[in-house]
Amino acid sequence: MKGLERTIVAEELVLIKNGGEDNPTNKILGVLREGLGKNEFLSHTSYRPDVAYMKYGGEPSGAREVYSFTIKPIGVLTKDGIEPNRAIIQPRSPVYILEEEDKPLEWIARRDEILWMDAYLEGHETWNIPINKTFIPYHVGVYGSTGSGKSWFTRYVLIPLYVKAGFKVLVLDWSGTDYTPYYQSSKHVKTVRITDIALDEESIISYFQGKTRNFAGNNNVKDGFDEFVEGWMEKVRNVLRNKDKNPEETLYNQLKEHVESNISKIKREDWRSSAQRAARRVFRRVKPSDLSPVIGVMSIEELLQKFSGEGVLVVDMGGTLTEAKLGFFLSLSKHLYSLMEAGRNLNMALIIDEAPQYAPWDPRGIQSETSEMIKNLTALGRKRMLNLTLIAQGIKGEIGINAAVRRNLNTHFFGRIHPLDAGGEGGASEWLSPYGITPDRMLQLKPGRFYFSGAMNPSPVPLFITYKLSAA
Ligand SMILES: Nc1ncnc2c1ncn2[C@@H]1O[C@H](COP(=O)(O)OP(=O)(O)O)[C@@H](O)[C@H]1O
Ligand SMILES: [Mg+2]
Repeated sequence: MKGLERTIVAEELVLIKNGGEDNPTNKILGVLREGLGKNEFLSHTSYRPDVAYMKYGGEPSGAREVYSFTIKPIGVLTKDGIEPNRAIIQPRSPVYILEEEDKPLEWIARRDEILWMDAYLEGHETWNIPINKTFIPYHVGVYGSTGSGKSWFTRYVLIPLYVKAGFKVLVLDWSGTDYTPYYQSSKHVKTVRITDIALDEESIISYFQGKTRNFAGNNNVKDGFDEFVEGWMEKVRNVLRNKDKNPEETLYNQLKEHVESNISKIKREDWRSSAQRAARRVFRRVKPSDLSPVIGVMSIEELLQKFSGEGVLVVDMGGTLTEAKLGFFLSLSKHLYSLMEAGRNLNMALIIDEAPQYAPWDPRGIQSETSEMIKNLTALGRKRMLNLTLIAQGIKGEIGINAAVRRNLNTHFFGRIHPLDAGGEGGASEWLSPYGITPDRMLQLKPGRFYFSGAMNPSPVPLFITYKLSAA
């Protein structure tokens, strides 16, 4: 109607009284999305009310151009929530924009086991977003280019949501800058440095393997490391017990000596000298300081006892190399996996920011192990109340998460996308364009705006949500 083009904007919710003001066939809640460029006057999956409006006898807008939003029906209102609409939406049906006090999101949240996020429908601060609690362990992906607000969204919205749902939350802070500084002064949240945590022996070997390009390809060198790493924790404890000034250096020298003395026992001369060459290369690559990530003595069991207060625990992974972070992750995930295999329900959310570091599209070396582990955790976690929340710059390809892992994420938050994700198979547009959300729009989202889609969303149509930066 006249002047309303100023207030009616994309992503608003509307109510269609299907069939007319009096005695409507049903009432359909819908969301305004961009046009599809097709004539879809008769459909049950979308509705363009422009023609109806003329027939309704309203005063046309004075604007010279006409724009017609496509309405994506969310569902038919019933006593206990919403149902998919199956009736054709009749051309004369009037459409009403919803007002603040209508609280339409309460209409769609009647049936499932609902919790409310501290996030709201863009433009309506009082319309909090409902989620279906049952699907928390079906895993979550948060996507958006750098600076789109993923880590903040996780901190302000997802972590409090998981806490509210009764989950403990373990946050892996890849660089130590996205979560750790914000929680350090908190009385309720504990932060632990990765270098204080002990790795299991297999993960320590994986770490050295990564650091040394597979022990310069020499099996004798590898054997030397293998032997020394057996009983690693005891060796570390011994060195620490002696109040050594530089435990890394002492341990390093012991390791080096062990490997070299092993090699010197090789009888065949050509084998011996090639092992010696390989060892020299390996110890040029590994420095005493590289041992600092592997001389922690806090076991994973001890780590998991550090949840306190609200049940949020942050591991500060800053200041160490990728291999060390992934080595720790392997230790952690093996432990969680074995608990679940033994039939334990974890009631835990594991937040993995910078997820492509653990499960890239094309994993190699230790990343193949971490990718496989994440895939296994997602599969078993569904039954054992473990939520994985993976955060990535992109969805597919080089900036995205490994496809085998991605298939196990059932709820998605899409922020401003990277142009690489705009087109093509598997990108954001493929996920969202069926709902009338175009790549153009996705490329322009402001920080902190996300499309919420998938299993946890009681609305079958993605909702456009945001959150406030006040009190965390
Ligand atoms: N809801 C929001 N409203 C306004 N600005 C926001 C919002 N959320 C995040 N930001 C801004 O975006 C910046 C980047 O957020 P961050 O979560 O670090 O991005 P990402 O993890 O996607 O790289 C933050 O420093 C903050 O200033
Ligand atoms: Mg971030």
